[in-house]
Amino acid sequence: MTNPYSSLPKRVTICEVGPRDGLQNEAQTVGAADKVRYIELLVDAGVTMLEATSFVSPAAVPQLADADEVFRAIPKHAGVRYLVLVPNQRGLDRAMAAGVREIVVFTAASESFAQRNIRMSIADSLKTFRIVIARAHADGMTVRASVSTAFGCPFEGAVPPANVVRVASELLEAGADTLSIADTIGVATPNQVIDVVGALRVAGIGLERFGLHFHDTRGTALANILAGLQLGVYEFDSSAGGLGGCPFAPGATGNVATEDVLYLLNGMGIETGIDIDRLRDASRFIDGVLRGRVVSRAYRALEAAAARSV
Ligand code: COA
Ligand code: ZN
Repeated sequence: MTNPYSSLPKRVTICEVGPRDGLQNEAQTVGAADKVRYIELLVDAGVTMLEATSFVSPAAVPQLADADEVFRAIPKHAGVRYLVLVPNQRGLDRAMAAGVREIVVFTAASESFAQRNIRMSIADSLKTFRIVIARAHADGMTVRASVSTAFGCPFEGAVPPANVVRVASELLEAGADTLSIADTIGVATPNQVIDVVGALRVAGIGLERFGLHFHDTRGTALANILAGLQLGVYEFDSSAGGLGGCPFAPGATGNVATEDVLYLLNGMGIETGIDIDRLRDASRFIDGVLRGRVVSRAYRALEAAAARSV
């Protein structure tokens, strides 16, 4: 029998989205100093790519209204990429003023979600981002572009892979350096991962150009990551403790938990550079701040094992 896992990537980059996607939907306001501490703990654990915050309208995402203060206060470590979300030129102005080096622009593969989330049609968002990306590049920034609802939309249901490819291609054509293909509401199953990744590859989009972003709303996120690995994908977004959700996506729950992903990857001998025990320290910290919101199963198992051994 041939081993279906013999040719998986040897190393994977985790983009830690806890401080952004993880916190943005939390009702309890987390103070700026706690956000900075959380980010420091994540970096201490070996995280080298993270979404730090969003320079969006404070009315849209009140939890991240302190983005300017938080971003300035984060100690910047060499070799760590601190990404921020930017929805428009105003967000880019703020990001530039705060010293950001890498931004994430974001639109969707479905019209209704783009409208609810950024109050723009997909076409208008692409027009805006063409300008945002050009300005960001002129300033020496790197640009990641996120495609929400790539596996299903809370308002429209199924999203054809061809729509994902069209938006992804237009974002690259507008100058985005890389992409994050997102299952915003956690509906994807592995066959869809094969369809969407396959369609991107057929369109000439290389594995170095995109990562995958899964929510675990229905428990399929790890299966989807495994499907992505089998297709050669080597960049995945995840959130420490499994916090997360989008305020504009009804019913969506947390991102796949970084601990759960690390447990899977560690077991399969795939390197990430992140220490699962130290990452747990970051989750434990934010769980204390949020009074028990962490849902990661690997985190719970590690905590239980630690409690038994004392
Ligand atoms: N940062 C801070 N404030 C901003 C802003 C930004 N990037 N962009 C707009 N605003 C402010 C405007 O100044 C205006 O404020 P006022 O009401 O006090 O005058 C208000 O927001 C509305 O501005 P407008 O340009 O009309 O925006 P909008 O209402 O059409 O909303 C977005 C568009 C994109 C700004 C808003 O929908 C948004 O921030 N969405 C982000 C959603 C998100 O983060 N989702 C989760 C991640 S997937
Ligand atoms: Zn998300």
